[in-house]
Amino acid sequence: MWHTENPIRHPLPEARWPTQEEAARSLLFSPVQIGRVTLESRTWVPAMVPWRATEVGFVTPNILEWYGRFAEGRPGAIVVEATGIRDIASGPLLRIGHDRFIPGLRQLVETVRRRSQGYTRLFIQIIDFLAVKRRPPKEKYFERFLRLTDSHRRALAETTGDARWMKAAESDLRAFLTDAPDELLDRVMDERELESLRYGYRERVTDTDLPHIKELPAVLPGIFADAAVRAREAGFDGVELHYAHAYTMASFLSAKNDRSDGYGGARSKRVRLPLEVYRTVRERVGDDYVVGVRFLGDEVIEGGSHLEDAVYFGVEFARTGFDYLSVSKGGKFDDAKQPKVGQAVYPYTGQSGYECMPTVLSDERGPFGRNVPLAAAIKRAVNQAGFNPPVVTSGGIGTFDMAESILRRGEADIVAAARQSLADPDWFLKIRLGRGEEIRRCVFTNYCEGLDSMHKQVTCKLWDRVQLDEPEITMSDDGRRRLVPPRWSDA
Ligand SMILES: Cc1cc2nc3c(=O)[nH]c(=O)nc-3n(C[C@H](O)[C@H](O)[C@H](O)COP(=O)(O)O)c2cc1C
Ligand code: SF4
Repeated sequence: MWHTENPIRHPLPEARWPTQEEAARSLLFSPVQIGRVTLESRTWVPAMVPWRATEVGFVTPNILEWYGRFAEGRPGAIVVEATGIRDIASGPLLRIGHDRFIPGLRQLVETVRRRSQGYTRLFIQIIDFLAVKRRPPKEKYFERFLRLTDSHRRALAETTGDARWMKAAESDLRAFLTDAPDELLDRVMDERELESLRYGYRERVTDTDLPHIKELPAVLPGIFADAAVRAREAGFDGVELHYAHAYTMASFLSAKNDRSDGYGGARSKRVRLPLEVYRTVRERVGDDYVVGVRFLGDEVIEGGSHLEDAVYFGVEFARTGFDYLSVSKGGKFDDAKQPKVGQAVYPYTGQSGYECMPTVLSDERGPFGRNVPLAAAIKRAVNQAGFNPPVVTSGGIGTFDMAESILRRGEADIVAAARQSLADPDWFLKIRLGRGEEIRRCVFTNYCEGLDSMHKQVTCKLWDRVQLDEPEITMSDDGRRRLVPPRWSDA
């Protein structure tokens, strides 16, 4: 994973855990209203992909166990992982692109209700993403993928000083390029071709020469809305539209979106499709259903959107009626590390990925609560504009005091914790019971994220090799790791 030059290794912040009485009086464990739904506390497990669905996107017993285990800690809300809205294969990621997915999702809702004793509200994050292909072997790229044009021939003739390339057989050109050094390829191929060769082919929302990309504004509102209706039918308390990180809707919001069809360029145009999607979803699910959004406070990429854009988007989202705003940061393809041949580029491997899930190897600011200022600025602007949807913040939050002081300072209305909840899904309950000393604290070194980036079942290094002799535990596909932490009482 990326980290800054000469990083500082930050120690975990001192944790002082409250008594049961103090916890009961805290803001963190006070209710908050989201649309028509009341959360019993301001604690939140944000979306986290665990790589546990079937190859075709159905809920599995391991998915039920994963969410059931989080539910036992009784957070105010859990957001189910990014779930694909199209009816296309996407590996072991959940899908909601057809009615056949509803029964499994309904089981998931029932599991969370039961295991949280009805305490935890359940939302589902719904996502659209564009094609990202694996990095091809060089031979395959030149043999099959590169579309040879006259401009390649010209550049090659100029670079080599050999005019015969203008008329040479295609097979000779392809063979020559396969063996050519990088410097020559840099001069002969354009930026997108080089990217496809070195990182794998990746579509962008600005590829409007492709009909299916051009038509996104016509197509997406309907498929998001269909997915939201299915979520409602399955019993979820609401949907979270995924407008963050590296995916389609975030790319429409991005300052890099220069589409010329009214859906790119100025901020007001970049936000147009995200608002149209919202309105269509709202029309179909009704006014009494929670529709929230996750979006970026900063893309953290060159030429990308920054906080001023996010403040504008936040106000527009609130004005249009979103029930909550969940603020994330970074997580883009643009600065991701080059994948190995045969692997796909992953959006959490560069600096923007670091900013999404900051680790203890950091600059002076450190990872703890690092992204709160973004949520705070968005909340301030949204409130000043006269709107009050709860704002959710996340990023390196793993102590009661930190969460409570964010709320007391009015920087956010709800505190989300992904990795701390993965390290110890019971942590909210332990705090409520005045047993904070028993919390297994996340060390923020991103072993879990490493598994995610390799598309392996996500676990936490603090518990995935302990008590492996426990009867009836489920192990990971590689047979080495348990898939959920030991029960608290057994731990
Ligand atoms: C394994 C893993 C998977 C994640 N998957 C998603 C996802 O599906 N959707 C999303 O919006 N964020 C996802 N995130 C980001 C988290 O929701 C969260 O924003 C990030 O981890 C920072 O919060 P934390 O410091 O509390 O972990 C994921 C994070 C991890 C560690
Ligand atoms: S593996 Fe566990 S301890 Fe490490 S960052 Fe992830 S949740 Fe935290």
